[in-house]
Amino acid sequence: MTKQGTITFYENVDWKKIEDVTTPRVKQYLRSVCNYLLENIKGNVLVLEVGCGTGEFIRQIAKQVKNVVGIDVSNKLIEMAKKNLQGVENISLVKADIESIKIPESYFDFIISMWTLPNLDNPTSFIKKMKKALKPKGIIFIDTYSEKATKDRIKQYQDIGLTVLEANDKEIVIKEGLTEKIYTKEDLENLFKNANMKVKVIKIHEFGYLCKATK
Ligand SMILES: C[S@@+](CC[C@H](N)C(=O)[O-])C[C@H]1O[C@@H](n2cnc3c(N)ncnc32)[C@H](O)[C@@H]1O
Repeated sequence: MTKQGTITFYENVDWKKIEDVTTPRVKQYLRSVCNYLLENIKGNVLVLEVGCGTGEFIRQIAKQVKNVVGIDVSNKLIEMAKKNLQGVENISLVKADIESIKIPESYFDFIISMWTLPNLDNPTSFIKKMKKALKPKGIIFIDTYSEKATKDRIKQYQDIGLTVLEANDKEIVIKEGLTEKIYTKEDLENLFKNANMKVKVIKIHEFGYLCKATK
């Protein structure tokens, strides 16, 4: 996987087409994770969303928190997010690679990231960095697809005309640039344990794992 491959993929993918081919079950899964986060993140808090995409989740959560920072590696997506979030004042959008950008320490009450972990080259240093950026009592919520979603993911990529070069229990490799890692529940638990964090993997839907981690 290359960083440039990830960027190229997200710069060129047709988001409307993705929306069109997403199955109702996957849509239900995505919605249930967002709803869970909206119920659990409220009040006078600072939130960071890593891999914010078009900013759709920021638009919803910004209404109920103090401030949200969204980071995304794709210039095109940050531009789409800016458009989507016009007039929303308690947000900042940053175009950056989360794996190389500097983040202030002990700053955020919540750090969330949905379906972005599979794209990262070095998940261990990512989690350690997020831990540093978290306030002492802060919470990290990271969601990723489970092994049970792989079949639907492959079909979705093929349905929008992309070429799946390889798919096994560890990764899905797309010719157009993206490699998506597949994590087991145990992989995720180990990831947070290696960063000396406490983690609970919440099962909201069989298609994903929602990790709730604290210091
Ligand atoms: C599958 S999309 C999910 C987008 C959004 N979270 C959502 O739920 O719609 C993954 C996002 O992560 C971003 N991304 C991938 N690697 C990244 C990195 N190293 N740093 C920041 N953002 C990254 C991509 O550009 C893309 O917007």
